[in-house]
Amino acid sequence: MTVNHSRGSYEVALTTFEAAMAALPEDCIIVTDHNVQRHWGHLFPRALPVFACEPGEHSKSLDVYERVLAWCADSGASRRTTLAAVGGGVVGDLAGFVSATYMRGIRLVQVPTTLLAQVDAAVGGKVGLDLAAGKNLVGAFYQPVSVYVVIDALSTLDPRQFRNGVAEVVKYGLIMDSELLRQLSEGLLPTNPQLPAIVEKCVSLKAAVVEDDEFERTGRRAILNFGHTIGHAVEKVTGYGPVLHGEAVSIGMAVEARLGEALGVTAAGTAYVVTDVLERQGLPVRHEALQATGSILEAIKLDKKAKRGSLAFSLLIEPGKCKLVEDVPPEAVEAALRG
Ligand SMILES: NC(=O)c1ccc[n+]([C@@H]2O[C@H](COP(=O)([O-])OP(=O)(O)OC[C@H]3O[C@@H](n4cnc5c(N)ncnc54)[C@H](O)[C@@H]3O)[C@@H](O)[C@H]2O)c1
Ligand SMILES: [Zn+2]
Repeated sequence: MTVNHSRGSYEVALTTFEAAMAALPEDCIIVTDHNVQRHWGHLFPRALPVFACEPGEHSKSLDVYERVLAWCADSGASRRTTLAAVGGGVVGDLAGFVSATYMRGIRLVQVPTTLLAQVDAAVGGKVGLDLAAGKNLVGAFYQPVSVYVVIDALSTLDPRQFRNGVAEVVKYGLIMDSELLRQLSEGLLPTNPQLPAIVEKCVSLKAAVVEDDEFERTGRRAILNFGHTIGHAVEKVTGYGPVLHGEAVSIGMAVEARLGEALGVTAAGTAYVVTDVLERQGLPVRHEALQATGSILEAIKLDKKAKRGSLAFSLLIEPGKCKLVEDVPPEAVEAALRG
């Protein structure tokens, strides 16, 4: 599948871990994390230098970034070197930002190994780091030269991390593709023979949106935020960690479906469909943090996507269709949070 962008295009290939490694160029360095290295490191080409960071969000820091840059220099990486980011979204964002900035930019190959990274993080060109002040506050739009979606890597993923990615798959169905939604009537497992086709569908849906709005200027990309306004607030008020991103988005989609119905934007009965499909996937649709409506509203207002105090939400019109709605009254949000 080809993804077009302002400076050219790149291929996204569904393949195996082994084939992806065999396709890496000779002048290549690998950034990964310890979990991925433990499960899949035996397939890394032996001659290539490898930097493995600690697993987890805290590796998306200026400190680790600096260490990776120093390692690039020590490994003799030049402007002709390719950097392969082999891991989940953390590795993709960190290594992506390294490749965007080392020597003013070296070639980047994304090899996403979590479902979340495959259907979301690895396509679209956003790379970056967190600051103490907030997530993803440093970054760039930097497109890879190729993406290898290694489906077999999902076999070693923790089931909770797999479901975390399923939340984003459900989101694509809800915002853009009612046919995909129908395929999710039963719990999705890594062994499902439909999985490669489902992942490919999600990648093509994301590619279509980001090709339309590469730099997040037209508002088209905003539909990808369905469930995320509340989801980000849940992650924030629970202190980032106890509730995984996809879980928070799942809770957020349930709340935002109720909100849409209350505002008359979303067709009646949609909130039930949303909750039902998420629960079938073993995903959460409620959380006690939602009761702290004041803190949640505060977190939404501080979110970088809230414009000048106005509350904007990407809301469903019906399952499979979504649009951006601005100036949502805070009282309506509070009512939706209470359920
Ligand atoms: N750039 C974007 O557009 C974009 C989009 C969505 C999310 N993100 C970012 O992605 C990050 C979350 O990504 P994630 O959910 O992939 O988390 P992650 O990278 O932390 O991976 C989750 C866990 O799975 C482990 N893991 C990865 N692949 C594995 C495998 N094949 N087998 C066994 N274990 C494996 C990791 O070590 C980690 O412990 C966040 O920082 C988020 O901001 C970026
Ligand atoms: Zn997300």
